[in-house]
Amino acid sequence: MPRPVIIDCDPGTDDAVALLLAFASPELDVRAVTVAGGNVGLARTLANALALTRLAGVSVPVHAGADRPLLGAFTGEPRVHGPDGLGGIVLPPGGAPAPGIAADAIRAILRQSADPVTLVGIGPATNLALALATEPALAERVAAIALMSGAWAEGNVTPAAEFNAWSDPEALAILLAAGRPVTFATLELTAQALATPERIAQWRAKGTGRCLAAACDIQASVPPSQRLGGRGAPLHDPCAVLCLTHPRLFTSRPAHVQVELAAGISRGRTVMNRWGGVPNARVLDTLDADGFFAVLGERLATLP
Ligand code: BDR
Ligand code: CA
Repeated sequence: MPRPVIIDCDPGTDDAVALLLAFASPELDVRAVTVAGGNVGLARTLANALALTRLAGVSVPVHAGADRPLLGAFTGEPRVHGPDGLGGIVLPPGGAPAPGIAADAIRAILRQSADPVTLVGIGPATNLALALATEPALAERVAAIALMSGAWAEGNVTPAAEFNAWSDPEALAILLAAGRPVTFATLELTAQALATPERIAQWRAKGTGRCLAAACDIQASVPPSQRLGGRGAPLHDPCAVLCLTHPRLFTSRPAHVQVELAAGISRGRTVMNRWGGVPNARVLDTLDADGFFAVLGERLATLP
């Protein structure tokens, strides 16, 4: 039986690839896509999620969620994702959002699902945290939480913090306190998923579908990461999807994870004790990058 999942996202170039991958994964039953402001403002991330859902031809409800973190102000990342969030790649417009805000939709799905639901968080964690904070008993209905979030060493938005963790650290702390199994795809892990021009060309050669073409165009728009030597851009968010469907491509270890909430230069830092303490999470460690890109290309090529 496919695993029921909710994808909470902020598309976002790598979110776009992750969403298409999830839609193309027979192991997953995507019950809803919930959207927050993150890489760009909510109006754009929502429009992008709707457009991607229609492009893939799936009838998954897309719910609008938080346009800002629990505390503080919204800050986007247009340097990486472009002002439109998809690197200037224009998709045909999608349909209308489903009625009801993201946190309400997440709670309703958790309440009504026959099987526990896995939460996949690939943006600021605000929607997921709001859902669990407003009805904590529903945590029992959460099978697992898979996040692209955090770093055990250097951040990407500040020297201390990764973008999703930094965007809403209080929300991440709420998820960690929920007592469910949390898996982290950190910056150290996603650095191994480096989308080089050669790998994107290999994807393109796999088919002629519009989704494959869009994924290639969107990923090719991302500026190469100077932090990682300028050879390509890390494909962060698909790691949080693929670790559910292809766990053998990853190694992981238990860890005790906390997030820094204090104001100042370390806010949003994920302090990951991978060698001691009482574990409250699993941190993905290594990735078979060739296997990762092969599966992604094959899966994207199955979409229209
Ligand atoms: C994360 O932040 C966003 O810019 C990406 O979509 C990804 O979710 C990487 O730090
Ligand atoms: Ca994201």
